[in-house]
Amino acid sequence: MLKGKSLLEPMDFTTEELEELFLLSDEIIEAPERYAKVCEGKLLATLFYEPSTRTRFSFEAAMLRLGGQVIGFSEPNSSSVSKGESISDTIRTVACYADMAVMRHPKEGAPKVAAACTDMPVVNAGDGGHQHPTQTLTDLLTIRREKGGFENITVGLCGDLKFGRTVHSLIKALSRYRNVSFIMISPDELKIPDYVRKEVLIKNNIPFEETGNMQEALPKLDVLYMTRVQRERFFNEEDYVRLKDRYILDGSKMKLAKDDMMVLHPLPRVNEIAIEVDSDPRALYFKQAQYGMYVRMALIMGLLGIKG
Ligand code: CP
Repeated sequence: MLKGKSLLEPMDFTTEELEELFLLSDEIIEAPERYAKVCEGKLLATLFYEPSTRTRFSFEAAMLRLGGQVIGFSEPNSSSVSKGESISDTIRTVACYADMAVMRHPKEGAPKVAAACTDMPVVNAGDGGHQHPTQTLTDLLTIRREKGGFENITVGLCGDLKFGRTVHSLIKALSRYRNVSFIMISPDELKIPDYVRKEVLIKNNIPFEETGNMQEALPKLDVLYMTRVQRERFFNEEDYVRLKDRYILDGSKMKLAKDDMMVLHPLPRVNEIAIEVDSDPRALYFKQAQYGMYVRMALIMGLLGIKG
């Protein structure tokens, strides 16, 4: 059903298509050796115009673990991008060599432009402050496996909710499930963008609160999604310095939370989660990073039309 599609936005797949991906991810986690050769002869291109550790490595690891191969760049200046080549010419060229491409770009909409120029599946691996749909697949698989599903949960999102593309994508994706509510914890300057508030939350009658007080929100949450204040998205260093350490989750704050609250973070982290929290069984962010590889294995198989 997903064969030949691109993934540009979290809503590009139906909830049924997502469920298929999660079921395949479960099977891959149970018996990875069964999938070790299913992508033999297939080539994935990773085009990263912005830095990445998890997204690029997990896609590359995913393809290699499926028996396929990988080409690409992690630094656009090592390609003909440095000579002024356009996104459309780059993707048309890459489509001559690869079966699918994964693109991260600082400009919102760049992967959509690329996808419009080729029949090859293109995956948005993060476009500016806009969307990061495969992080959302990662987040959803983690919640599904660790909580058993997405319904009847209160999700707290904390930190940079303005520029945080993982937050925008996750809100959109979770808004399709029954009885999900949100508590948005941020400074005034980093509140969710208006289009998310109006077009996603208000339009769909999703219950949500906005607060600056993390301690008050913590006892109500089933999932806490921490985010980094992103220096690279600020125009002004002074604002970044003033806001970067506003919320730090530490051992004393974890005492306010439910015994089964999950702590997620797309990573990288800077100061927003104290290292002492890592040993708390509720801290699932490294497990989340691992689930990211498995769900990307399922995604690659789906887009290339490979059956398990
Ligand atoms: N979560 C995430 O996108 O991490 P990277 O920036 O390291 O890819």
